Amino acid sequence: MTAIHGSAAAITGAASGIGRALALELAAGGCDVAIADRDEAGLAAVAAELGSRGRKVTTHRVDVSDPAHIQAFAQAATAAHPGLNIVINNAGVAMLGLFNEFDQAQFEWLMNINFWGVVHGTRAFLPHLERQKAAHIVNISSIFGIIAPSGQTAYCASKFAVRGFSEALRHEFWLANSPVQLTVVHPGGVKTNIVRNMRTGAAITDNARRVESIERFDTEFAKTMPEVAAQTIIRGIEKNAPRVLIGNDAKFMDLLQRFRPGKYFKVMQRQLAKRAAAQGK
Ligand SMILES: NC(=O)c1ccc[n+]([C@@H]2O[C@H](COP(=O)([O-])OP(=O)(O)OC[C@H]3O[C@@H](n4cnc5c(N)ncnc54)[C@H](O)[C@@H]3O)[C@@H](O)[C@H]2O)c1
Repeated sequence: MTAIHGSAAAITGAASGIGRALALELAAGGCDVAIADRDEAGLAAVAAELGSRGRKVTTHRVDVSDPAHIQAFAQAATAAHPGLNIVINNAGVAMLGLFNEFDQAQFEWLMNINFWGVVHGTRAFLPHLERQKAAHIVNISSIFGIIAPSGQTAYCASKFAVRGFSEALRHEFWLANSPVQLTVVHPGGVKTNIVRNMRTGAAITDNARRVESIERFDTEFAKTMPEVAAQTIIRGIEKNAPRVLIGNDAKFMDLLQRFRPGKYFKVMQRQLAKRAAAQGK
């Protein structure tokens, strides 16, 4: 069991959204934080917000897709926080487009952040975590690591991969006998900047699709506030939950996938069509 009070956590993607909320909630619960992001200005703003919470805070400019960056982050963070015992691999990105609308380089850009970033973070911090009395790794997947709607080929590939990697790692004998626990998190829609910051497939020239997609995410899909997502994740750490689902949307889609493993997308399409009809679209 990992208690939050008196712990120290490394969080990637902490300049915005769920990562920022995690940093604030953890610090409020008495946990020191090493916050990392490639967005230095965003990190500085979160560090300023954290200032009043009376915990030790360090900021680290890190590109999670670069293993050398994460190694340097792990070294600096554990030097600054020798008792660091929680690692949250959270940084992630999204992309607009069908499979034939983005190119291989764009697919690899997304995988390098969403999947390899999680693997690099886990590898870099594990030796340190194994030396702690109680330690925890949190890997952020998505409900799109459980179901796979159209328009999400790269994102789903990355998030299914995070889930597969994390579950298999948790089941490995050596980790099961170490002080390190592992939670994989599957949020439904959370009100963050992820869609606003997404890249657009190289073949998409019409900006209207991007605008519509951002609007739909904000009004229809982003149901949970980041603070609530962060609190749910923290409860998962405290209870050593192997899997955390965030939001009723995620809980519903998880059940739907179990009952209709081959046909859940048809049910989702019917629901979306009903909703569009009700809104007169
Ligand atoms: N918002 C949602 O609805 C939702 C749903 C399911 C899963 N998630 C996952 O939650 C995680 C957090 O996303 P969010 O919604 O808070 O998005 P966000 O865009 O608000 O925050 C993501 C942060 O990651 C950082 N980041 C991106 N690429 C990076 C890189 N290469 N190196 C370092 N930092 C990088 C960004 O600068 C940003 O600060 C992601 O893994 C995302 O896939 C989000």
